Amino acid sequence: MPTLLIIDDNPAVATALEVLFSLHDIATLHAESPGAGLALLQSESVDLVIQDMNFSADTTSGDEGEALFADIRARHPDLPVILLTAWTHLSSAVGLIKAGAADYLAKPWDDDKLLVTVNNLLELAEARSELDRRRTRERARQQQLAQQYDLRDAVFADPASERVIALACQVARSELPVLITGPNGSGKEKIAEIVQANSSVRHGAFVTLNCGALPSELIEAELFGADAGAYTGANKAREGKFEAADGGTLFLDEIGNLPLAGQMKLLRVLETGRFERLGSNRERQVKVRVISATNADLPALIREGSFREDLYYRLNAIELALPPLAERPGDILPLAERFRPQDKPIGESARTALQRHPWPGNVRELRNVIQRAGLLAVGERIEAGDLNLPKTTAPKPASTQEPDRAGIESALARAGGVIAQAAAELGLSRQALYRRMDRFGIKPP
Ligand SMILES: Nc1ncnc2c1ncn2[C@@H]1O[C@H](COP(=O)(O)OP(=O)(O)OP(=O)(O)O)[C@@H](O)[C@H]1O
Ligand SMILES: [Mg+2]
Repeated sequence: MPTLLIIDDNPAVATALEVLFSLHDIATLHAESPGAGLALLQSESVDLVIQDMNFSADTTSGDEGEALFADIRARHPDLPVILLTAWTHLSSAVGLIKAGAADYLAKPWDDDKLLVTVNNLLELAEARSELDRRRTRERARQQQLAQQYDLRDAVFADPASERVIALACQVARSELPVLITGPNGSGKEKIAEIVQANSSVRHGAFVTLNCGALPSELIEAELFGADAGAYTGANKAREGKFEAADGGTLFLDEIGNLPLAGQMKLLRVLETGRFERLGSNRERQVKVRVISATNADLPALIREGSFREDLYYRLNAIELALPPLAERPGDILPLAERFRPQDKPIGESARTALQRHPWPGNVRELRNVIQRAGLLAVGERIEAGDLNLPKTTAPKPASTQEPDRAGIESALARAGGVIAQAAAELGLSRQALYRRMDRFGIKPP
């Protein structure tokens, strides 16, 4: 049962509130003075405070209430506080709302409105502490992963990337081929490095071949090597990547660009470890851990006949699918912190802008944006203007428009902190508004 602390010198007020809340399964504690209230906050577990603004019979300034509120805030920064005030002090109450009080009610209060406010605040506090607990668990898991494995300095904070990295570590020791999929710049190569660094062949060579960067006639020679005279221009025998990677790892990037003939040969090496150099009939044998990556839709390539289905099933024994950066928003700020210059912290406006941008170029785009801003920013911090991000696209029609951080904050301000009213203005349910406040890290007013 949640517990509410009433700090009011008027016993009649306290009794009325106690009765009201006991009828709604909320326990109450009562203190008659600020000092007694602060002492109870020390000794008891309290979820919410309702405090008066004046405590001595001969004062009406509201100063005591303001001082009490400041003391509570200093000691319990997240504890919601509702101010109970005579109508003459509405202006100082509004000032305290700006300083972080949850809400205020004028005496005589309306029971229903008070209950709605209290229940909202308790719900929000519960959602918050659940979120805190989840974050703590996440961080513990992520630290453990970093202790147990070599993560190649990868930055990850979002549960979505954590899952991919944990899976990469788990499968690293097996000998099965791994296929890494994900859009441009999402960090596929980073994941390949992690698999290699935790594999049993981590001391072997790490050889990479980007199948997208070579004309298709040359890819096979690159992969398998060639004897002198095997093709025009091949005047010397050359070793291919498979031979170079023997006993280690071969990373085949943009595997979707491998021509069909090469695909057939690749399938054979994967199944038998055997191949021949171009122009040679001497069979060679290697032991290579193959990691491949693609941003292409391989199943679609299979349907159109440009990728072998059997090779696909061979390659993707284990698929590590990296979501686009926009689908792992928890990574954005930690990555930005990694990429920024040490002497250029990221300002609040830039943080907001970074979180709003859709990042079509993923981690690579983020890195470039931050490095550029770090170089060019003239102020002490990197601010939104330094990022040079395109203005967000045209607003959607009002009915489906998703409120942004600024929209929510101004609606809350207009509603004087009354959540239900702000929610109504935004066309959201209370719960939906709380979820968005949580997401943007907006404290209740
Ligand atoms: N989790 C991460 N932590 C730190 N740096 C990262 C992370 N993910 C990606 N990077 C960095 O972002 C850049 C792009 O990543 P990477 O080259 O791995 O992407 P990719 O998916 O292979 O891109 P492409 O599709 O263009 O080949 C690299 O400089 C990489 O080091
Ligand atoms: Mg890459």
